[in-house]
Amino acid sequence: MNLGFLASRNGSNMQAIIDACRSGRLAATPAVVISNNRDSGALERARNERIPRFHLSGSTHPHPEDLDREIVDVLLEHDVNLVLLAGYMKKIGPVTLATFPGHILNIHPGLLPEYGGQGMYDRRVHEAVLAAGAGTTGATVHVVDAIYDNGPVLAQRKVAVEKSDTVDTLARRVLAVEHELYVETIDRIICGEIKLP
Ligand code: GRF
Repeated sequence: MNLGFLASRNGSNMQAIIDACRSGRLAATPAVVISNNRDSGALERARNERIPRFHLSGSTHPHPEDLDREIVDVLLEHDVNLVLLAGYMKKIGPVTLATFPGHILNIHPGLLPEYGGQGMYDRRVHEAVLAAGAGTTGATVHVVDAIYDNGPVLAQRKVAVEKSDTVDTLARRVLAVEHELYVETIDRIICGEIKLP
């Protein structure tokens, strides 16, 4: 299975998946990395890993339809079967969604459907969890559709919130769980345990 990544920032989830491919834990090949952020850690990691990498954004393609089409072309040119969002801060375009129906996944640092939707990302999720006094948070892997954080949930793992937690301590613990959960979920897809449409 060929994996295509879309990542905007640090890319630690992407790195965990690449490491799992390299170690043989995942029977998959990291085929291409696309980022909307030319200075992202994700593109730097792709360079270090010698994975083809592309900066595609509103600055390279001012018209959203052109950007959507170019993203699809790059993914298809690299024979991608499964698209993985890993800290990707942009909405997926209609052509990309239609070309990979049910085969675009995302990881979210919370237990969807709670603490999800537009504007609910990264530290904001942990801030909301702490503000609500929730005892439990976690991570979710889900299928991507046209609405933010809306597609079917494939896997979730809970993380207990400690009384002493700050956004930073909670983010660190959830991120470690995200890395594990994303790799495990992809493995379950490859093994046929989770069926994608
Ligand atoms: C993760 O918390 C992920 O759930 C969210 O953005 C963060 C990305 O972290 N979508 P990284 O870029 O994978 O390190």
